[in-house]
Amino acid sequence: MAERNASPLGFVTRNSLLCLFSVASILFILSWLSVLRSTGRPRFIDHSLLPNSKLFAVTDNGNSESQNQNDIEPSIESEEKALEGKNSVKCGSNYPVLKVFMYDLPAEFHFGLLDWAPAGESVWPDIRTKFPLYPGGLNLQHSIEYWLTLDLLSSEFPENQNARAAIRVHNSSEADVIFVPFFSSLSYNHFGKFKGRQKKNENNLLQDKLVKFLTAQEEWIRSEGRDHIIMAHHPNSMLDARMKLWPAIFILSDFGRYPPNIANVGKDVIAPYKHVIKSFINDTSDFDSRPTLLYFQGAIYRKDGGFIRQELFYLLKDEKDVHFAFGNTQGNGINKASQGMHSSKFCLNIAGDTPSSNRLFDAIASHCVPVIISDEIELPYEDVLDYSQFCIFVRTSDALKDKFLIKLIRSIKKDEWTRMWRRLKEVENFFEFQYPSKEGDAVQMIWQAITRKVPAIRMKLHKSRRFSRSSVGRERVLNSMQLPKNFW
Ligand SMILES: *[C@@H]1O[C@H](CO)[C@@H](O)[C@H](O)[C@H]1NC(C)=O
Ligand SMILES: *[C@@H]1O[C@H](CO)[C@@H](O)[C@H](O)[C@H]1NC(C)=O
Repeated sequence: MAERNASPLGFVTRNSLLCLFSVASILFILSWLSVLRSTGRPRFIDHSLLPNSKLFAVTDNGNSESQNQNDIEPSIESEEKALEGKNSVKCGSNYPVLKVFMYDLPAEFHFGLLDWAPAGESVWPDIRTKFPLYPGGLNLQHSIEYWLTLDLLSSEFPENQNARAAIRVHNSSEADVIFVPFFSSLSYNHFGKFKGRQKKNENNLLQDKLVKFLTAQEEWIRSEGRDHIIMAHHPNSMLDARMKLWPAIFILSDFGRYPPNIANVGKDVIAPYKHVIKSFINDTSDFDSRPTLLYFQGAIYRKDGGFIRQELFYLLKDEKDVHFAFGNTQGNGINKASQGMHSSKFCLNIAGDTPSSNRLFDAIASHCVPVIISDEIELPYEDVLDYSQFCIFVRTSDALKDKFLIKLIRSIKKDEWTRMWRRLKEVENFFEFQYPSKEGDAVQMIWQAITRKVPAIRMKLHKSRRFSRSSVGRERVLNSMQLPKNFW
């Protein structure tokens, strides 16, 4: 397969399909082998799907201390080598880099919302010199839009090309996906209020404008939006536009406010909140040095979620070593909550008015084992990450039984807790948003989650074209549709 080098970035080539098939066969044999040799330790992360890992380094030796990809159990390694030799498979081992076309939307849709105004031709700030900061406080938890856009802009810099998960391309026919750089959460936070008797606020108007822009684009028309990436992390963002833009892939915090035909776990991508609690750097705590057993600090809502919170409060308020308090975490609250979570063994994450909240990601950053009571929650990258290794899940109906929750928590002893704590420290980087992005952080994990959607997008696109020959207007469709190089 020497000609593999001819298209190093091609996502679907005949060779890579062959390769994929061979790899799949090998994986199948390997998994069969490892079932035979199974030590009973649960598989933690499928390394083959993680950033820049070698495709063949799929065996996790269960030793949570060693994250080094080269630390493969020797005997399995030789089995792999033998198999590799037999099939003579040598193929690209890195995770494919996602090729992203980004619309040059006017600045009012993105950095303009951060009070930045273009000085010259470009709608983008020169992020090498100075770029606007995202507002702090609770705005930050939905700042995904900002980090992804910065990452795409910087992907054109020559530095650090190897450690990228996505690169910006300027020819949309060569792209895997089309990125819509609308800072919708910020637009909701800034402009979502109605003034006076206004029918539409500025956030509604901006969404209308976006729909008008997108549906007129050649890229949108040729795929009917199926390969478009639209960020709507705040549950209230894009409430208008989503009804028109639903064929696209949404990046969301959960599906709480979405009808399943508009958004679902098959089509869309769940992204973490940016945590507001400080990361626990140099955490040398242990089970015994964290005095609080179970910690909850949060708002109490009158809607659905509020009921559960109140019930749990009555169930837990008299238990020893339990901190259960209402009130938000703004201002000095954040410092206090950081202290509280850093000194607790378990942190409660209860459904609020939507199934998700940033509290889960605060708990992860604090290495406080999350206890999740939220039946409808969807979790980021769950196709490659097994949350049961570092979270406790409790059904709402169980949690509301007398003593159920506290008994369960008290039954988890030092050994098991320590294992989960260690895994939290291993996975925390997957939930870290930063610029520049680093290998395996939230920015790259989200791009890779999108990369894993690309085959399904292609499938939908191809199917949608089956009968285009017999339908009227085929000429027009074909003319507006330049097939990407690697389509076949
Ligand atoms: C963490 O530990 C390293 C090495 O001991 C030290 O250089 C660093 O300042 C520490 N950071 C914090 C925030 O304590
Ligand atoms: C964009 O890419 C397509 C497919 O590779 C190619 O045919 C086309 O000429 C390119 N367009 C431009 C403007 O470079």
